[in-house]
Amino acid sequence: MIRPRRNRKSETIRSLVRETEVTIKDLIYPLFLVDGKEIEDPILSLPGQKRWSVDMMLFEIESCLKLGIKCFVLFPGLEDHLKDADASYSYNERNFYLKAIKEIKNRFPEACLMSDVAMDPYSSDGHDGLVSDGKILNDETLPILGKMAVAQANAGIDIIGPSDMMDGRVGYIREELDTHGYQDVSIMSYTAKYASAFYGPFRDALASAPKMGDKKTYQMDPGNKYEAVREAELDESEGADFLMVKPALCYLDIIQLLKEGFNLPIAAYNVSGEYAMLKAASQKGWLDYDLAMQEMLLSIKRAGADVILTYAAKEFASLRR
Ligand code: PBG
Repeated sequence: MIRPRRNRKSETIRSLVRETEVTIKDLIYPLFLVDGKEIEDPILSLPGQKRWSVDMMLFEIESCLKLGIKCFVLFPGLEDHLKDADASYSYNERNFYLKAIKEIKNRFPEACLMSDVAMDPYSSDGHDGLVSDGKILNDETLPILGKMAVAQANAGIDIIGPSDMMDGRVGYIREELDTHGYQDVSIMSYTAKYASAFYGPFRDALASAPKMGDKKTYQMDPGNKYEAVREAELDESEGADFLMVKPALCYLDIIQLLKEGFNLPIAAYNVSGEYAMLKAASQKGWLDYDLAMQEMLLSIKRAGADVILTYAAKEFASLRR
C-alpha cells in the first residue's frame, strides 16, 4: 500500500523531506525611529515593538546582529510640527532619520539597511503623494521621492524601499540615484502594495494615517491579481532589484504568481496587522504564538517569498538559538 505517512513517522524523516524552511537570513526586521535620546517607547498595537531613539536603536541592532539578523528596514515617526504638504523634512539635512542611517552604518557596517521612500510620515496630509483639491498628484510627487531617495543614499542606505505606489517612481528614483553616483544602491520596490486594512497598527505607531480619504487611488485593489503582474513588469523594466508583495498573508497567491513569472527576488511584507492579530489571539490564550508565528512565516516562504519583512524577526531568531 502506498502510505504517505511513512515520510512523517519521525522528526528526522520529516526534516529530511521538508520542502521549505525559513532561516534567519531570509528576514528583514522593521524598526521605528523617533527623534530624541534614551527613548524606548512600546507600541501598544504592536506588542513587543518599540519606537526607538537612535542611541537605543544601536543597542537593539547590536543584539539583533548577535542573533544573526543582518537586515533592517527603518521607519521614521515625526512630530506634527515637522510635517508639511510637500514632505520637505524628508530630504532636509537636519533630518534625524538620515543622521541615524549614517550613525548606524558607521557603527555596524555589516548591517544592511533599507529605507522607506514615501511622503506619508512627513506629510501633513498623511498621504504618500502630494495632495491638491483632494487628489493625489502622481508626476508632481516623483521629484520629492527622488530627493528623498538621493538623501538616503547619501546617508549610506543599502536598499531604497519605495512604498508609495506612484506610477513611474522606480524608474525615476533609479535615474536620480545613477546620476548622483549611487549606482550601487538597490531598489526594493513595493510592487504590489494593496489598499489593505492590515496597516492599522503601523499607522498608529507613526501617526501617519491619511487625514482625509483613503489610499485607494494609488494602492492596489484587493480584488486584483493580474494587475500585480502588470505592476511587476513595469518595476522590472524600470530597474527594480527586488519585487515586493504587501501584505503577505492574504496575498499568498500574488507572491506565488510573481515568483513563478519573474526572475527577480520576491519579497513579502508580513505587515503590522498580521503580526498584531497573532499577538492579540495569543494574549487571549487562543493561539500558541511561537508555533503560529513560525507557521505564518513558513507559509509566506512556501508561497515563493525569498525575503520576508516581519516584526517577528527577532522572536524567530531567538527561538533558533
Ligand atoms: C507607508 C507605509 C505603510 C506601511 C509601510 N510603509 C503604511 C501605509 O501605506 O499606509 C505599512 C507596514 C505595516 O503595516 O506593517 N508608505
